[in-house]
Amino acid sequence: MDSHNLAELLKRSLGEVRLRLIQLVLDEATQRNLPLYIVGGAVRDLALERPVNDFDLTAEGDAIVLARALSKKHGGGVTAHTKFGTAKWFLPQDLKADHDTLDLISARSETYQYPAALPTVASGTIAEDLRRRDFSINAMALRLDGTHFGELRDDFHGMDDLQKGIVRVLHPRSFLDDPTRMYRAVRYEGRYAFKIAEETLALIPEARPFVEKLSAQRIRHELDLILDEPNAVSMLKRLDELDLLSCIHPALADFDRSNLAHLQSDDPALQTRNSRWALWLMHLSDQDIELINERLHFTAELLKILRSVALFETNLPTLRGLKPSEAVIILESYSIKALEVISAALPEGEIKNTLNQYLSEWWHVKPKTTGHDLKKRGIPPGPKYNEILRRLRAAWLDGEVKTEEEEKELLNNLLR
Ligand code: CTP
Repeated sequence: MDSHNLAELLKRSLGEVRLRLIQLVLDEATQRNLPLYIVGGAVRDLALERPVNDFDLTAEGDAIVLARALSKKHGGGVTAHTKFGTAKWFLPQDLKADHDTLDLISARSETYQYPAALPTVASGTIAEDLRRRDFSINAMALRLDGTHFGELRDDFHGMDDLQKGIVRVLHPRSFLDDPTRMYRAVRYEGRYAFKIAEETLALIPEARPFVEKLSAQRIRHELDLILDEPNAVSMLKRLDELDLLSCIHPALADFDRSNLAHLQSDDPALQTRNSRWALWLMHLSDQDIELINERLHFTAELLKILRSVALFETNLPTLRGLKPSEAVIILESYSIKALEVISAALPEGEIKNTLNQYLSEWWHVKPKTTGHDLKKRGIPPGPKYNEILRRLRAAWLDGEVKTEEEEKELLNNLLR
């Protein structure tokens, strides 16, 4: 694609307010002789004619000074990280549209002291900023300031690779520097139906042992991003093929393909990230979940769902042939999210029906009588309250009472 077209595409993809905002930044950068670019994923997606949701602006120079000048002139506030040369401009009201902020980044170089280390950052040229990146398709910069508007900087032939559909690292140490890039490679390959270049694939075996050095947060983040993708199933299979799951934890590689297929369902209950994790791991035992959690440090909410799902598998047979009120006693101990996932993944049959009834009706069933009513009838507060209310709820669930009068009658009998 002609690079000038890219810049035009960018302009066209922006709404009126965002365009005005970018124009203000361009004017300021031009006045200051500061080269300004969009870099990385935004350039890649523009070239693929995919929607560009958000992007940072990279200055070859001090982005913090630029951000402060902009906020002084046009309003809003700035927070800055001097160590990284990054600034966040909290936009004034008239420049906010879908976004409240704009990130301004100083071009930088990154070096790695040892494999899987966090990089050492220093300010740098745009050439260095491109060289620090993961793949050629993510290492292009589109210049925006002054007369340079629309110039493409493509030192690693990213545009060629985009056209050929290839994911290629920039140098042989790339995966050693940052082993998360192996997961990113699979994500881009699956998302765009690309292929990871042969030479890039050949670098995986040497870097794979260093996955162990990644923090829980870094590796979990990559898996989160993969699960967020519509094409997550084929990405997980590809990771497995490349032995990139077992090196996180052996149980992750032993996946149940029929559960995994539910990741492609369009059931809204299965679209959240937590549900997608649960679908992936639902066949695992609670011990496996605990072990994987030691490596990945799940959020408390997700861990609760995963434990619930694991437990359910073991308790499944106990749900057969029960009255609704008996099933409810068992099901109440599970998280609703967990039950939604399990129900979606179960084959048609008695247990799936029971679950669906619980989720759609039984869960909400409550007696009309409240603790307050019992108090009014002079019953001394205590565990008895719970017992009575549970008995009334069970009567509704099992069809023993169908009206408020019938409930009152039952209550009178119970109190007698
Ligand atoms: N990057 C990198 N190595 C990483 C992470 C990011 O080199 N481990 C670079 C890439 O150039 C990438 C940019 O930083 O384009 C921004 O990263 P990120 O926001 O994760 O990705 P996007 O490219 O914006 O793409 P997407 O969110 O669509 O995956």
